[in-house]
Amino acid sequence: MRIAAFASGNGSNISQLVLNGVAIELIICNNPNAYIIERAKQMNIKCIVIPTKNQEQETYERLMLEALQLHNIELVVLAGYMKLIGATLLDEYQDRIINIHPSLLPSFKGAHAIADAFNFGVRVSGVTVHYIDSELDSGTIIMQKPVAICDDDTLETFEMRIHEAEYEIFHLAVKKVIKELNEKSIGKC
Ligand code: GRF
Repeated sequence: MRIAAFASGNGSNISQLVLNGVAIELIICNNPNAYIIERAKQMNIKCIVIPTKNQEQETYERLMLEALQLHNIELVVLAGYMKLIGATLLDEYQDRIINIHPSLLPSFKGAHAIADAFNFGVRVSGVTVHYIDSELDSGTIIMQKPVAICDDDTLETFEMRIHEAEYEIFHLAVKKVIKELNEKSIGKC
């Protein structure tokens, strides 16, 4: 299965996928200053930067789609990609784009999920891997892992455990999706 990853920032989840045996053919990054660009070099993975700032969604998504098709990508994983995916990509990659989000969806959607859960005072939050649709942090859930908030947690210690949980389940969820897609394509023959 040929997989691309989209990222806007640090890219630690992509590194963890690779360390856990998920082959990534291509990384698409929308932020020219993101650390993932350096990580991609170190991992020897092709990384294409397609800036999205002040650009029309349809315009940059067409470029992304061209890159995906050029590399025969069959599955896209979003790992800290801070943009909604629009119809240009969704129509071509229906049920083939998944995302990791640092809360137990449908609670605490949005860009500040870890701090929002911590500040709300929930005793349990967690991480979710899900298919995406046109809404923010929506779509069918593939896998979740709860993370407790302890009395002596600070935002930093809680955040660290959230990331550990992400690293634990993301590769398992991606492998599950690959298996299901492979089974579907065998069933088609
Ligand atoms: C992760 O917490 C992920 O759940 C969220 O963005 C963060 C990305 O972290 N969508 P990294 O760039 O993979 O280190």
